[in-house]
Amino acid sequence: MTSSGKARARETLAARQQRVWDKSAPSYDKQIAFFEKTWFGGGREWVGERAHSRVLEVAIGTGRSLAYYPADATVTGIELSPAMLAIARQRAAGLGRDVDLREGDAEHLPCGDASFDTVVCALSLCTIPSPAAALGEMKRVLVPGGRLLLLDHIGSTWPPVYAAQWLLERITIRAAGEHFTRRQLPLVHAAGFQVVETERHKAGTVERVHAVKPA
Ligand SMILES: C[S@@+](CC[C@H](N)C(=O)[O-])C[C@H]1O[C@@H](n2cnc3c(N)ncnc32)[C@H](O)[C@@H]1O
Repeated sequence: MTSSGKARARETLAARQQRVWDKSAPSYDKQIAFFEKTWFGGGREWVGERAHSRVLEVAIGTGRSLAYYPADATVTGIELSPAMLAIARQRAAGLGRDVDLREGDAEHLPCGDASFDTVVCALSLCTIPSPAAALGEMKRVLVPGGRLLLLDHIGSTWPPVYAAQWLLERITIRAAGEHFTRRQLPLVHAAGFQVVETERHKAGTVERVHAVKPA
């Protein structure tokens, strides 16, 4: 193994994710804009319509959901990649929104217990190394009765599509930690949230989840 190969083998999963997303940051907006039109259409609006008051977006990326939050919401964003976060800062400034943007790990949120009314995570539990740990943290920082809003791609309900996703993720998990057959809903139940509404679209490959932390 080469010395850079050995260094990569020693890299933690979070460090790998940061490296991968720092590299992807300059091209992310262009790439995801295409998938927002063809695959996730209406997802950011759906999340934004349900978010209220003190909103935490976990793994906020370049801040593409910021435009959809109510004007009177107070928004905080946590993100592992400094390069993604730098673009989110520019986006917030362009929108004239005062957003508290912090570097941090979804699995160890740098936030107090019961400090948010809404927690959002969009298109990120597919890539966060331990989605169960991240959901546990989201529950911790929500007030009792607070809302959890998720948007993500998941394994299809159509076996041929699921099989293609499974094959694809044999490459993407190794290369970038990106999963295509993960499903967050069972983890949301297991974390002790009460599920209020769910929607599945695009051959079951996209799921929206609205759940609450029990009071
Ligand atoms: C596909 S992007 C989605 C970004 C944004 N949520 C959106 O809707 O466009 C996935 C993001 O998850 C972030 N991420 C991955 N693992 C993370 C972790 N453990 N903690 C915080 N952010 C993480 C990546 O840096 C990247 O910005």
